[in-house]
Amino acid sequence: MKIIARDLRSIIKGNPFGILERRKNRSSRRRTKSRGPILDIGCGTGTVALYFAARGESVTAIDFVDEAIRQAKEKAKRQNAVAEFFVKDFFTVGEWNRKFANVIDSGLFHIFTDNTERRERYFQVLEQVLEPGGRLYQLTTIQLMPFTQQEFEGLFPKKGWTLESIREFVAEVTPEAAAEHPGFNWNSWFTVLQWNG
Ligand SMILES: C[S@@+](CC[C@H](N)C(=O)[O-])C[C@H]1O[C@@H](n2cnc3c(N)ncnc32)[C@H](O)[C@@H]1O
Repeated sequence: MKIIARDLRSIIKGNPFGILERRKNRSSRRRTKSRGPILDIGCGTGTVALYFAARGESVTAIDFVDEAIRQAKEKAKRQNAVAEFFVKDFFTVGEWNRKFANVIDSGLFHIFTDNTERRERYFQVLEQVLEPGGRLYQLTTIQLMPFTQQEFEGLFPKKGWTLESIREFVAEVTPEAAAEHPGFNWNSWFTVLQWNG
């Protein structure tokens, strides 16, 4: 599934990363006021990762599917974008010894609908890769996480985390994704959580 999160973009325009604070100087138009390195988890073919890379952010992206990463690297080359892509299981990134100020999850967490253990482990891994004060930006489709908002919020750990915002929106998808998942309900939650460390 390839989610292009129109709303993610508009929230980003609302400036969590300050990405649109372009300089007046044309030569530095693509430079940004970065809020630190980004890790995209379950990046698929890299759509979201490359969106940020094109805006001058430092982006690392992982997916455990070789073919997805191969395509992501190819796309990066075509777009002349600089981003790191790795074939990696998300559940191993805690052993990686790298920290990020931002983690983007566009469609990974919602895979663990019926798996409490995986959901809990997910947050333990994030605690290892996020810098203290770092944020998780998460897009979750409601069809795959069919809970009330209150139940959904109950999936997030309380200790060490602050739920900064959560809102419902309809994700915009590529024509290929729409064709692959006919009738899918793209209503989603966009959630921002801060890891206090
Ligand atoms: C719904 S797709 C989202 C792809 C991309 N983030 C996007 O928004 O277009 C979920 C992705 O998570 C990847 N994935 C699932 N479990 C994973 C894991 N344990 N480690 C790394 N990637 C995983 C899948 O291979 C798939 O590419």
